[in-house]
Amino acid sequence: MLYAGVDLGTSAVKLLLMDQGGKIQKIVSKEYPLYFPHPGWSEQKPEDWYEQTMAGLKELLSECDKSQVAGISFGGQMHGLVILDEQDEVIRPAILWNDGRTYEECDYLNNVIGKDKLSEYTANISFTGFTAPKILWVKNKEPENFERIAKIMLPKDYIAYKLSGVHCTDVSDASGMLVFDVKNRCWSKEMLEICGVREEQMARIFESYEVVGTVKPEIAAELGISENVKVIAGAGDNAAAAVGTGTVGEGMCNISLGTSGTIFISSEKFGVDKFNALHAFAHADGHYHLMGCMLSAASCNKWWMDEIIGTKDYAGEQAAITKLGENHVYFLPYLMGERSPHNNPNARGTFIGMTMDTTRADMTQAVLEGVAFALRDSLEVAKALGIKIERTKICGGGAKSPLWKKIIANVLNLKVDVIESEEGPGLGGAILAAVGCGEYASVKEATDKLVKIVDTVDPDPELAAKYDERYAQFKEIYPACKPLFEIIH
Ligand code: XUL
Repeated sequence: MLYAGVDLGTSAVKLLLMDQGGKIQKIVSKEYPLYFPHPGWSEQKPEDWYEQTMAGLKELLSECDKSQVAGISFGGQMHGLVILDEQDEVIRPAILWNDGRTYEECDYLNNVIGKDKLSEYTANISFTGFTAPKILWVKNKEPENFERIAKIMLPKDYIAYKLSGVHCTDVSDASGMLVFDVKNRCWSKEMLEICGVREEQMARIFESYEVVGTVKPEIAAELGISENVKVIAGAGDNAAAAVGTGTVGEGMCNISLGTSGTIFISSEKFGVDKFNALHAFAHADGHYHLMGCMLSAASCNKWWMDEIIGTKDYAGEQAAITKLGENHVYFLPYLMGERSPHNNPNARGTFIGMTMDTTRADMTQAVLEGVAFALRDSLEVAKALGIKIERTKICGGGAKSPLWKKIIANVLNLKVDVIESEEGPGLGGAILAAVGCGEYASVKEATDKLVKIVDTVDPDPELAAKYDERYAQFKEIYPACKPLFEIIH
């Protein structure tokens, strides 16, 4: 049988076709625009996602035996607010996970409602990218749109709805809305009330590996597949990526180097830290996880290469890097503000430490290192909670670079296990589809059988010690710049 995994990302939708033995048959990618209507705002059109997903599915399935296609599932960019009217038409562009406009609404939620209450209701506090403050923003700033809301959805769930006709979501993605009771895996009545929303406006909740329905007849006809093809709920992209790298069960770690950068720690038990410094979310394997998320990771490198120095030769630029552990140029990677651990939408990207002998390669190196240092900020929070982490998996576009993997292994002082395929969320989506279709009894059984480690990047003690010193310096830069970020707009 064949399973399609749809990774609805921020720069593109990436689709992957996997057979029941875990072999990847084909990968297709289709881009769509990202809009920044104001500094710090970030939007996309759900119609673009759907159009490109359908174009991608057609291409993905063009050469296979279509009668073998059994299930479709998803990994999707999290937290995005998609609002539909009575006719299921999109009311306004989706407000994305890396959008910083809800500063006032977050302040209201965290400081008027109170972080303790939010944590009691949802296991999390408010961050600008989360969905609840966006619902409040629409209520406050666009009341005419708020009045028209019949359904509130997350990005990948909009696609699942278009394919199946079912208004669905899954526990991992719902966790990032701040209207979901993570511990009990249901909507939080208190949070719905705070947001002025009724439960019937929310989607039906599924475990990530559960079947929500089958493809609608017109979709089956358009794609040339059977009407029995199942649509499986899928997961937020980080939980799906964790499935794709086999990060399930107790105490496993995955780093995702995509547009965002995340550290994901799986856990069999529900747990939340005292300061809610890490997100406490439901996992796609039926359990839980903790996560730190930086808003700009591989996107910093893309911005530096494409927009600033104007090249597509990423490998060539990285080959000129010579000062591992000895660079005195630092980069704060806060191009979209920052979530974990600073929770500051006003933070900005910053280079510091240049001298007349600084080279282009030193600046490129600083960008790669800045992302690694910022990931270490979240790792330090996890370590302070007593979580012991010695190794991590890695996935996402940035994981294609051997140099970046080496920098990450040494800055974080972790063994970095490389998986056969870096296609974390797409592969995770396909695995969830296989579990939903009964090919495997559980997500754990599927990942044990399907996910293979092909290499490990070990930290070098001497280089890791040098990076410890560099990290101590890096840590001083944000607090020193913070007052400036409040006045630079
Ligand atoms: C996670 C987060 C990002 C997006 C990116 O909390 O906001 O990783 O899911 O797609």
